[in-house]
Amino acid sequence: MNFKEVKKNPLVLEFLRQTEITLKVHNYTDHGLGHSNLVAARARTVAKEIHLSKREQEMCAIAGFCHDFANFLNRTYHNYLGALIFQEIFKAVKDNKLGINKRKKRITLNLKIDTNFVPVMEYFEIFTERMVYCRKAAKYLGYKFGLVINNFKLL
Ligand SMILES: [Fe+2]
Repeated sequence: MNFKEVKKNPLVLEFLRQTEITLKVHNYTDHGLGHSNLVAARARTVAKEIHLSKREQEMCAIAGFCHDFANFLNRTYHNYLGALIFQEIFKAVKDNKLGINKRKKRITLNLKIDTNFVPVMEYFEIFTERMVYCRKAAKYLGYKFGLVINNFKLL
């Protein structure tokens, strides 16, 4: 995922458009594309000046561009809602299947992850806590929990 892709994503653009309309009605200053591009550019500049990596600079630009796009839902919680919406738009998981092997007493979650979006190990780290719940739930049922990501058996 890069800034160019985010900037042309139709959902991102529509949420920004809805935010601009909503905030205009409530007499806020410009919260449309102009504001988003300005914040993205400034976030990138700050990231560059403090010597963050190129990738981190790109992430800062993306965060800057999208930071306001959930305002059409709720002004107070727009930052949280924005993060949730962003996650829904740019999902790393491309496919998932749940396998239940009664003979081996094993429940296996098979995921296909877009590694352009997030490296497998990074994804695993993010979801470690959830995987612990899955393991405990499977154990309660008398099963073992397995996790396979991109054909690589992690659990
Ligand atoms: Fe803003």
